[in-house]
Amino acid sequence: NNDVGILAMEIYFPPTCVQQEALEVHDGASKGKYTIGLGQDCMAFCTDVEDVISMSLTAVSSLLEKYQIDPKQIGRLEVGSETVIDKSKSIKTFLMQIFEEHGNTDIEGVDSTNACYGGTAALFNVVNWVESSSWDGRYGLVVCTDSAVYAEGPARPTGGAAAIAMLIGPNAPIAFESKFRGSHMSHAYDFYKPNLASEYPVVDGKLSQTCYLMALDSCYKRFCAKFEKFQGNPFSLSDADYVVFHSPYNKLVQKSFARLYFMDFLRNASSVDEAAKEKLAPYSSLSGDESYASRDLEKTSQQVAKQLYDAKVQPTTFVPKQVGNMYTASLYAAFASLIHNKHSELDGKRVVMFSYGSGLTSTMFSFRLRECQNPFSLSNIATVMDISGKLKSRHEVTPEKFIDNLQLMEHRYGGKDFVTSKDVSLLSPGTFYLTQVDSMYRRFYSKK
Ligand code: ACO
Repeated sequence: NNDVGILAMEIYFPPTCVQQEALEVHDGASKGKYTIGLGQDCMAFCTDVEDVISMSLTAVSSLLEKYQIDPKQIGRLEVGSETVIDKSKSIKTFLMQIFEEHGNTDIEGVDSTNACYGGTAALFNVVNWVESSSWDGRYGLVVCTDSAVYAEGPARPTGGAAAIAMLIGPNAPIAFESKFRGSHMSHAYDFYKPNLASEYPVVDGKLSQTCYLMALDSCYKRFCAKFEKFQGNPFSLSDADYVVFHSPYNKLVQKSFARLYFMDFLRNASSVDEAAKEKLAPYSSLSGDESYASRDLEKTSQQVAKQLYDAKVQPTTFVPKQVGNMYTASLYAAFASLIHNKHSELDGKRVVMFSYGSGLTSTMFSFRLRECQNPFSLSNIATVMDISGKLKSRHEVTPEKFIDNLQLMEHRYGGKDFVTSKDVSLLSPGTFYLTQVDSMYRRFYSKK
């Protein structure tokens, strides 16, 4: 099979959101802490009528409809999510409702879970299926869906919510460069969800940043080694047109790109110019641990990498800044931002992707983009996703209302025997929503 990859995408995020500027005031944080310090503009969240199941139902049914894909043409469906609604029944089985209606129950795949990495695991599974001898010629489908909510405290402004659906098959406009992959997996307690009675994670924020950057280093080294092995020449940031990062908050993305630039400097790569070399020279003898701790290095590398950041990363940051951390969907929402911003100038471009899930699991991999025929053209993907339209029709709520909503959701989490507000006034037509959880914990959804 040639050029296996992503043929089509759809993104859904809740229409309800809170401005980071307003949250700063509400939380008594210093001005600019969330907007400049974290680099975030706005944060989406689910009200009581939405959850990871309703969002994924919406994303999948909209994708099938807008690209005119017959549901019988799907042979594998995998979901990545870290939002636990049921410890046994997969989100995938809820999505089967869409396919059963059309007489298709012959669909492999279940859910993958490890923090923000589950979507990448699901994507690799489906791509591997299409490349394997058990492929039956039908499309694969991957769904990343999460609602990121945190207990009161410094992590709360790094929430968000979204679902992304991706259609997988051969001859794709977003094709995997399958040989170039570097992973780093290890045991860490940086962010985890041991309390099954709560939706909130336990998080060691500072440790999670360091774990993320160490994983990034390690993946980059392995990615570069694979590239050199199969391509015959060394890899540097000059070989990547765009770099897309898992995006819990934008500041970490800025630091991550600066870190890659510093890695290129240490490897004496061609992407680093003479002026930058001079500025980075004082840090060349730092040990690994010292280099993660050095604030001066962080600042200097961000400064010297700024121009490349603006060209190779900035176009990928739009949706994550507006919607927040979408956990499994964050990396793919960042990628969707690139399609949104640059769809007409992406033919032949290489995009390097970095996926990170706490705990921890991480992989760096790459896509080669190609102009394809409709409906699977990059410009049609941008049109279908309609990111501007979706952002424009959002409804901003006050921090007080946002907190009230979180309290209601805390109370409802793991509960049974309730009906929701069924307030769908803000949802666009075609959106699925939760109506009821009955005395047997069975969940019921309707479509607006
Ligand atoms: N104006 C501008 N910048 C400011 C201001 C201000 N008024 N006040 C603070 N800042 C800056 C700080 O200098 C810092 O930036 P820097 O790192 O470049 O120096 C930044 O704002 C954050 O402030 P801190 O005090 O360092 O950190 P805080 O206690 O607010 O916590 C954290 C931030 C750790 C990211 C927290 O939000 C968190 O735990 N989030 C969840 C964990 C997470 O997302 N980890 C990422 C990988 S794992 C995952 O994806 C879930």
